[in-house]
Amino acid sequence: MKIMKLLALSALIGSGAMADDTLAANMSQMENGLSNIQKGFLYNTPALIKNGVGEIHKANALFHDMDATKKYLPKDKQHMSNIAFNASKRIDSASAELLSNLDKKQFSKAHASYSEIMNACTACHAVVRGW
Ligand code: HEC
Repeated sequence: MKIMKLLALSALIGSGAMADDTLAANMSQMENGLSNIQKGFLYNTPALIKNGVGEIHKANALFHDMDATKKYLPKDKQHMSNIAFNASKRIDSASAELLSNLDKKQFSKAHASYSEIMNACTACHAVVRGW
């Protein structure tokens, strides 16, 4: 019995550590994507902007539904998983707007969508960090 409990415990700890690694890797990809979008606007290089949006889109897939999102929040913040999930959805919709504005060469509007993406990142971080 004791050994079963120990095994279950180590499996829990193990999966927790893996979830942490996944989260850290995805957040690093989010950050890289956001920087590339910013650089793309600063250097007037649409390809870099598109690339950055693609990176964010991939990383943001981690939060594909409410349960998945909840899993990556600290225990004491999990009751706010709906706010975190909405922030992730906002990133997807703002990304789609950004690309569509970019295609129309509406750069100012595209830049506003970039700000919206960043605000959505902050909305989830505010929940997670108790800002
Ligand atoms: C659904 C919630 C959620 C969204 C959306 C989100 N993050 Fe995070 N982010 C987290 C969590 C959870 C952490 C880890 C806890 C912490 O750092 O406070 C984190 C941490 C980070 C970190 C620090 C990682 C580290 O190793 O210390 C960076 C950088 C980051 N996020 C970037 C972004 C960017 C850029 C976006 C938007 C494109 C974004 N995040 C959107 C939840 C989210």
